[in-house]
Amino acid sequence: MKSVIIYYSYTGKTRELAEKTARDIDADLIEVKEKRNRSTFNAYVCGSLAARRQKKTEIKEVTFDLSEYEKVIVAVPIWAGFPSTPFNNILELLPEGKEIELILTSGSGNSKGSKEKTISLAKQKNIKVIKYTDVKTTK
Ligand SMILES: Cc1cc2nc3c(=O)[nH]c(=O)nc-3n(C[C@H](O)[C@H](O)[C@H](O)COP(=O)(O)O)c2cc1C
Repeated sequence: MKSVIIYYSYTGKTRELAEKTARDIDADLIEVKEKRNRSTFNAYVCGSLAARRQKKTEIKEVTFDLSEYEKVIVAVPIWAGFPSTPFNNILELLPEGKEIELILTSGSGNSKGSKEKTISLAKQKNIKVIKYTDVKTTK
């Protein structure tokens, strides 16, 4: 069964996890990158606000054909209790009705509420979340 992991990472932790998971399950990797280089201040202030408002961001062009994959995993960090803004771009790149597995990485904050919000965002775009994994990246 061929799998793909579509991910966004700001500080590298989700990338590290995506790369490790890809090695473990022999999946292809697709990285979604923002056009801008955000400063930490911008990420926490503007990025968090945009994530809370479920806004998209400007991403570098990325094209993929998911028809060859049976399993699609999407991995993104949590920002301010919501999936980081590129998640909203990724949802739009997925074909309607697609089933996905989600990996959300987060720090020491409470991420319980994020699950419901993330699944609800996917549902609004007619994307079915068949598995949700919450990964704490702090030790
Ligand atoms: C702008 C911003 C907002 C964040 N908000 C939260 C949060 O609400 N809850 C939490 O547990 N961690 C939060 N974090 C921590 C990240 O979710 C966590 O470190 C994540 O694994 C980072 O992934 P990355 O290195 O791939 O960007 C935030 C980090 C950033 C940069």
